[in-house]
Amino acid sequence: MDQTLHDRLNAHLQLEFEAAHRYLSMALWLERIDLPGFGAWLRGQSADELSHAHRIIDHLADRDLLVRIPEIPAQPTEWESPEAAVAAILESEQRVTRAIADLYDLSEKVHDRAASIMLQWFVNEQVEEENVARTLLGRLRLVGGDGVGMLMIDQELAKGTVPGAMAEAGANGAE
Ligand code: FEO
Repeated sequence: MDQTLHDRLNAHLQLEFEAAHRYLSMALWLERIDLPGFGAWLRGQSADELSHAHRIIDHLADRDLLVRIPEIPAQPTEWESPEAAVAAILESEQRVTRAIADLYDLSEKVHDRAASIMLQWFVNEQVEEENVARTLLGRLRLVGGDGVGMLMIDQELAKGTVPGAMAEAGANGAE
């Protein structure tokens, strides 16, 4: 594998592990403020992020390449509001989308077809992840912090009926 691509795939692990830790911390905070549906959804998102890191780890390991497990800084333990937390999720996912696009472009430039195919999965996954975060943020903005509205969204997340989050929550339920 091209050395720069190898280094950047290792560096990308930081983003995936950090997202896993941040989403777990968010889940625990949302559970503490009595929004268990949000918590369950985010525990699932955290597990998804770990599986993303493992996809890259497995790809490198399968090719007998060195994997560097990154140091992950401590994450916040609370956010200004559920809306602020979901806005932070969308921002984080957009950052990951840009990072994946750069990795994909590099893999094509160095003609690493196996890496390109592995990264193609992430390109599609990011469309879904951004869609879920954007939909949820839009719904939170619609209810504007109203308690009844928040509880309705929380129940929908618990049941997996928030548009865009359906497949995610369904998958979590199956785990
Ligand atoms: Fe693995 Fe949500 O980016």
